[in-house]
Amino acid sequence: MVYGVFSDVHSNMEALTAVLDFFEDFEVDGYICCGDMVGYGPEPEETVQRIRKLKNLHCIIGNHDLAVVGLMDVEWFNPYAKAAALWSRDTISMETKHWLQSLTAKIERPDFTVVHGTPRKPPEEYLLSAAQFKDNMPLVHVWPLFVGHSHMPLCFRVNKDEPLGIETMILEDHQQVEIQRMPYGIVPTAFNPGSAGQPRDQDKRASCALFDSDKGTFRIIRLNYDITATQNKIRNAGLPEFLALRLAFGQ
Ligand SMILES: [Fe+2]
Repeated sequence: MVYGVFSDVHSNMEALTAVLDFFEDFEVDGYICCGDMVGYGPEPEETVQRIRKLKNLHCIIGNHDLAVVGLMDVEWFNPYAKAAALWSRDTISMETKHWLQSLTAKIERPDFTVVHGTPRKPPEEYLLSAAQFKDNMPLVHVWPLFVGHSHMPLCFRVNKDEPLGIETMILEDHQQVEIQRMPYGIVPTAFNPGSAGQPRDQDKRASCALFDSDKGTFRIIRLNYDITATQNKIRNAGLPEFLALRLAFGQ
């Protein structure tokens, strides 16, 4: 099975369309969405409606999704995130709200696990360090683990030659990681496909990935999209200008 893996779309339909068009051309068998479909961006309703119709979709809820449907307090959000979450809350339909509320914070399948942040604190904790990965390892029963939240294309995996016994990789466009197997199973490995709709690794292109569960490979793909169109929609919606500007810098 080849899965299209994506995360942190954040209501950016131009970026989502570029990602899903690529996956469609590639004829993927299914989709893994690591959460944060809404928040920040200008088209939460359209974004959710597009994602929820995908075939063989494995999708979990992120912290911004929780905030938009009223299941997480926005008081700790930064002012831009808070403004967008409250605006999105008033924008989405009841149908979309109920669908988001129906999602779980963790999916565990025979061939992979999905959370937004970490297994320890699925919607909240950012998986950014080898130490965090090591701490979370006992909570994962099926590898590989797919996460989002940090908006960075990353890989963590067990490697006894690295500090703490964990190898950390920041993944670039078209970089492919082979999932390693041992006699007892798959070497513990976590992947973040980066953010489709609001990348923060100084690369403004939408980020996504292909996971081939048969070959055991994960490959990052970066895609250009019409950033100006999304910026104009953000401004027309009356959302904070910073949310439009940051897209042009990949921050
Ligand atoms: Fe996010």
